[in-house]
Amino acid sequence: MLNYMTAEQAAELIQNGDVLGLGGFTATGVPKAVPFALAQRAERLHAEGKPFRVGLETGASMGDSCDGALARAHAVEFRTPYQSNKSMREEINAEGTHYFDGHLSHMPQDLRYGFLPKPKWAIIEASYVGEDGTIVPAAGIMPTICRLADKIIIELNEMFPASMRGMHDLYEPLDPPQRREIPIYKPSDRCGSDHIKVDPAKIAAVVKTNRPNEIPAFTPVDETTAKIGANVAAFLEAEMKAGRIPASFLPIQSGVGNVANAVLGELGKNPHIPPFEMYSEVIQDSVVDLIKSGHCKFASGCSLRLVESKMAEVLADLDFYRDKLLLRPQETSNSPEIARRLGIIAINTALEADIYGNVNSTHVCGTKMMNGIGGSGDFARNSYLSIFTTASTAKNGAISSIVPMVTHMDHSEHSVKVLVTEQGVADLRGKSPRQRAEEIINNCVAPEYREMLRDYLKHAKHGQTQHNLSLAFAMHEEFMKSGDMRNTKWENYLR
Ligand code: COA
Repeated sequence: MLNYMTAEQAAELIQNGDVLGLGGFTATGVPKAVPFALAQRAERLHAEGKPFRVGLETGASMGDSCDGALARAHAVEFRTPYQSNKSMREEINAEGTHYFDGHLSHMPQDLRYGFLPKPKWAIIEASYVGEDGTIVPAAGIMPTICRLADKIIIELNEMFPASMRGMHDLYEPLDPPQRREIPIYKPSDRCGSDHIKVDPAKIAAVVKTNRPNEIPAFTPVDETTAKIGANVAAFLEAEMKAGRIPASFLPIQSGVGNVANAVLGELGKNPHIPPFEMYSEVIQDSVVDLIKSGHCKFASGCSLRLVESKMAEVLADLDFYRDKLLLRPQETSNSPEIARRLGIIAINTALEADIYGNVNSTHVCGTKMMNGIGGSGDFARNSYLSIFTTASTAKNGAISSIVPMVTHMDHSEHSVKVLVTEQGVADLRGKSPRQRAEEIINNCVAPEYREMLRDYLKHAKHGQTQHNLSLAFAMHEEFMKSGDMRNTKWENYLR
């Protein structure tokens, strides 16, 4: 018999120091009630002077009642991998939580290989759980944590109808040396099951809930993001005309956040881009619109990261979306093997890039964590064509997103083939570092920073990759000093 209880009762089962494996991905399918009750319990215990901290192993970002509440309660000893919650970010940057970031496709295998602590508890959200241990889930790392954890707590969320069954393809590869290829040869192929099966004796608690996913709204498309999207579309159109992308097109992967959402929306507006398929990680709002308009024929991903109204649209018309949307664990959605085989066009967002094409997706001014690398590395390194987009400036022009040297590198010049801003497109393929610098400064840098970066090169030491090590971070130092990179005077920083 399944053991139904309240979130508060389930939270009482968890002890100080326990490691929790959390289901869900980018705030979708994420447990909400139990982590929130756990945060409240931690606050009570802390008020009594008792320690209470847990380790969090997740698929990707969690919602505010999980990451946010637990971070505000100072109850997280360690957290891995991707997060995007303001309170969690603050806790990490205040050194209150040990955070280790990593490629999302690695997460399940790192758990299986024993590279990460084994979770004691799997806490997951499901739309169906049966007495025999059948669970119909969202994706993320759920199959792996349910197998590895000692005990499972399930939030049975009545918001998500049991008729969602069939929208998942759950496959867990064997570990080396038994591992074989993942048999996916086109985005709509299936190779797994539509549910997971666990030993029912492992299910310690089932908590009934009725809470929507906690997805923050996207900022509306503006002139800058629309231009970035139009530039990406024009570039892909030209690639098709040049015969480097087949007329039937190739599957698209699109990153997370406002820029990616806008870029994808703009792709659908280019009449020369044929209806395409997606083999991606997150399926954001704009994909649903592209499916409705017929521009996207099929989308395979790991998470439906949709704002509440968009999720309601999909749930109300499941029969229409059933053969057009498929959700997989991140190990399959982000598989390097599949990205390479399918020939994915990967479009991800950079926080900053340098004049040679190295990309920083994660660290503001080299020290403060933003969100994490997510799946961008899984796709960028293994795609057919890896495109990075960014607005040419941030914070009303006070920051140039193109700098002499990135303050933290997530994607090296070897994985970045094309850089796109609202200013234009830099095609870095087959170009030396010096040629890349010219291409990026001329085509991608905001006009007010172009001369500054050309002057940087005049101060740089000659060689294969030209740099002046005392000036490489002067623009960042100037931003930290005066709040505006436009004030940078190279002579003030020469040593
Ligand atoms: N320096 C400092 N801050 C910067 C910056 C820079 N060079 N560039 C952007 N920012 C700030 C913006 O001002 C904004 O700040 P705000 O939240 O205070 O308004 C914030 O970063 C987000 O920028 P925005 O332009 O809204 O971008 P986004 O929502 O598209 O997110 C990333 C961009 C890079 C943070 C996001 O795509 C990400 O986390 N990427 C890594 C993971 C990934 O690529 N996953 C894809 C896998 S499929």
